Amino acid sequence: MTEKVISDYNGYDYKKIFWEDADRAYEDQADRLAVRKLLPKHMKNFVDIAGGYGRLADEYVKRSDKATLFDYSKTELAQAKEKWGDKLQTKAGDIYNLPFKDGEFSTLLMVRATHHFKDMKKVLAELYRVLEPGGIAVIEVANKKTLPRIARYLTGRTKISPFDRKVANLKEIDPDGFYNYHPKYMEDLFMKAGFKIEKVLSVSNFRSARLKKLFGTKKLVKMEDKVQKILAPIRFAPSIYYRLEKPGDK
Ligand SMILES: C[S@@+](CC[C@H](N)C(=O)[O-])C[C@H]1O[C@@H](n2cnc3c(N)ncnc32)[C@H](O)[C@@H]1O
Repeated sequence: MTEKVISDYNGYDYKKIFWEDADRAYEDQADRLAVRKLLPKHMKNFVDIAGGYGRLADEYVKRSDKATLFDYSKTELAQAKEKWGDKLQTKAGDIYNLPFKDGEFSTLLMVRATHHFKDMKKVLAELYRVLEPGGIAVIEVANKKTLPRIARYLTGRTKISPFDRKVANLKEIDPDGFYNYHPKYMEDLFMKAGFKIEKVLSVSNFRSARLKKLFGTKKLVKMEDKVQKILAPIRFAPSIYYRLEKPGDK
């Protein structure tokens, strides 16, 4: 383990505790809509980075000639193997030193993981390295500039400014570190790492217990589908999805 590993999910039943026992069907569907829109229709060699137990595997296994799930937690990889068998390769390791060759993958996905990473520059350098020229990276970013945070800041309930591009470490959520990023900060890092930003989506726009109760998951997901593209320019949602390209010929 390196000193940079922030969150160790070994022995933690993320699938049951975070997803199955909680009211997160809307968030799950919102992620899936974005992943479906941004991943290429056909992928040669695909990897889901920090992919956990393979929650999103049914969105990419069918589209890939070869699919790999990478995560630090062997507990989660074992759950994925149990469900997917030979259809999904699993590989354990640390994102700061990916156990893959330069240019190995044609496409990668990374969802709900940025909040664990303190050294985002190093993470992006690794993601860039393992992609082939012309390859596609779909990355979800935990946004610090959300509407509820703006409201909390403007009414004096938090001192963390959502407008400040500095990384926010929300220790009240996780004392080991929980990082939220300003979209502009991330976009600058993406470009410095060498990526070209191709598409942006605003995701989980209606993440609110009140709205879930008022509309129900089905209606909310329909509304979500309609606004993911339209709301992207304002970057106010809790999740901002990016489709990035590593420039170059395949
Ligand atoms: C919130 S889960 C997201 C899982 C999956 N992407 C999803 O959306 O369901 C975050 C994942 O990041 C993994 N992780 C945290 N730090 C890591 C590191 N340094 N290297 C590799 N994986 C890491 C955890 O094991 C966990 O499975």
